Amino acid sequence: DRETKECRKKREKKVKSTCRKAIKTFHGCGSPTTLQKLACLDDVERYISGIVRPEAWAGTPTLESLFPLVSPFLPTRRFWVRRMEGESERSSHAPSPPPLHPAIAPLSFLLGRWRGEGEGGFPTINSFRYGEELHFSHSGKPVIAYTQKTWKLPSGEPMHAESGYWRPKSDGSIEVVIAQSTGIVEVQKGTYDSEKKIVSLQSELVGNASKVKEITRFFEVVNGELSYVVQMATKLVSLQPHLKAIFNKL
Ligand code: HEM
Repeated sequence: DRETKECRKKREKKVKSTCRKAIKTFHGCGSPTTLQKLACLDDVERYISGIVRPEAWAGTPTLESLFPLVSPFLPTRRFWVRRMEGESERSSHAPSPPPLHPAIAPLSFLLGRWRGEGEGGFPTINSFRYGEELHFSHSGKPVIAYTQKTWKLPSGEPMHAESGYWRPKSDGSIEVVIAQSTGIVEVQKGTYDSEKKIVSLQSELVGNASKVKEITRFFEVVNGELSYVVQMATKLVSLQPHLKAIFNKL
């Protein structure tokens, strides 16, 4: 019986904190609701925990199960209609994408989403094929954000993924940091050529890697197609290709 009491207490605590979170979320949208007319959030919590009997909860309360309880405090339908009308008015003059920072303009040939296929191999492993998507984006700052994901072909099962930042400099040099899903991190330095649309990178640091000693990456855009070659050196094998892939812009 004591155990049941403790269980109930635990569940009640969970319900309370979930309610508090849900209410704060709804409250946070700045809605002119009855909620705001209440003296404080404690009143709402007291109201909800008063009508939630712990026995009613089989497990962790979900937003769906909480909805009927918090709905009295939610904005009216009229509020949402007005808000949506306001939003569609605003979206007709939606803010334009941020202007390209001059520092990344020479690498604008990379920007966008690319999808393609690759081939992997190395003297110590069986070769394999994979699908891959790359995304190069910017937020108006002098840096390109990079994300990549790969999947097995033909099953589509997720494989390696990585993300990082590309920081070109005006003298034609570039530094890139990459974090891999395998736990390896790379600091890459190299050069780019905006006319030839190439970027060549050589690892200055490969961190948290048990086998890899060195990584090079070469990117090139030819006739609108992006391709890369990744080479690596391990403790046992000298620098040679591990990956090659080719992409079309989405
Ligand atoms: C720079 C990025 C990468 C590095 C540094 C890296 C590193 C390695 C290393 C050290 C090995 C083991 C080699 C050995 O045992 O001698 C390996 C194997 C492998 N890698 Fe990568 N890899 C990278 C990217 C990728 C990507 C993008 C994929 C998939 C699309 C991939 C798929 C594989 C596969 C399938 C194996 C063989 C695993 C096995 O047979 O046990 N790697 N990689």
